[in-house]
Amino acid sequence: MGADDTRGFVSLDELIRPRPIAEVVAEPDACGCAPEGADQASGCCAAPADQGPVPVETHVKKRYDALAVQGTSTLCCSPTSVYTSEELAEIPDWVLELSSGCGSPMNAIGLRPGQTVVDFGCGAGLDLLIAARRVGETGRVIGVDASMQMVRTARRAAKEMGLTNIDVRVGDIRRPPLREASVDVVMSNCVLGMFPDKKEVLHAVAAVLRPGGVAVISDVVYSDDGPPPADVAAGESAGAEDFARCVVGMTESQYRDLVLGAGFGSVDMRSDGLVPYRDGAQVTSAMIFAYRDDSPAQPCC
Ligand SMILES: C[S@@+](CC[C@H](N)C(=O)[O-])C[C@H]1O[C@@H](n2cnc3c(N)ncnc32)[C@H](O)[C@@H]1O
Repeated sequence: MGADDTRGFVSLDELIRPRPIAEVVAEPDACGCAPEGADQASGCCAAPADQGPVPVETHVKKRYDALAVQGTSTLCCSPTSVYTSEELAEIPDWVLELSSGCGSPMNAIGLRPGQTVVDFGCGAGLDLLIAARRVGETGRVIGVDASMQMVRTARRAAKEMGLTNIDVRVGDIRRPPLREASVDVVMSNCVLGMFPDKKEVLHAVAAVLRPGGVAVISDVVYSDDGPPPADVAAGESAGAEDFARCVVGMTESQYRDLVLGAGFGSVDMRSDGLVPYRDGAQVTSAMIFAYRDDSPAQPCC
């Protein structure tokens, strides 16, 4: 493998550092309220009535709202493991602190001036800021995220950096606030793991791509080289907190098959690095290239 083949892949050593989700739970929620001593009068922090299990999407959104308020993410990987210091120059520290990606889709694909690029699950906006410089003034970068707090952060960063070709929207990427067939590139960095039904997201990705368009998706999956963890092998459903984490509960080949069946013309998947995880399983950094049409209009890299 040549040096350039690792462009876009995360250093998997980072994966052994994530903080367990449970530690984040006790911290202030999206309202900035501690779980105890809640402000009942405002309703903002009122204790919720017991309405049974929280839907996965609600749990995940609250997790990232809380993270944005808290200001530091250790859920996924450090941006310095995928971007050079030149690429990170002038990006506000607080954006770097909140970055929760596990690769660099845009480095894997390369972006060109004038393109329209969408980041599905843009978080605090690091990838938006770097992409905006690459597509230039004639291009456009749109971020979509379900967490209002993350969207606020990304908008603030774009404003602070004077980047006027960035538009950040609150929305659910299963029903993205975008016209069909309107974008050249969809990026997604460590987001698909959050969805029990990943095919629904992939269909939404395919729908917004223009003819000749490509989606580049970075995720951490279980390696095919060895058994998956026992619960994955048994096909047991994960709990809500598992969905907020960065490791997709699928193996490489399961993931590839899923994308192949999601309405794209052609699909390519590459993985890089192996790190021991749990139950003897190993994880790997995966990059998926999903082309809207049968053969890519332009080879990716
Ligand atoms: C692991 S973070 C990755 C953020 C960003 N891509 C990065 O590299 O820092 C996952 C992001 O997906 C967002 N997300 C989760 N569910 C979503 C949904 N249904 N629609 C849009 N965004 C969603 C979260 O709010 C969070 O910002």
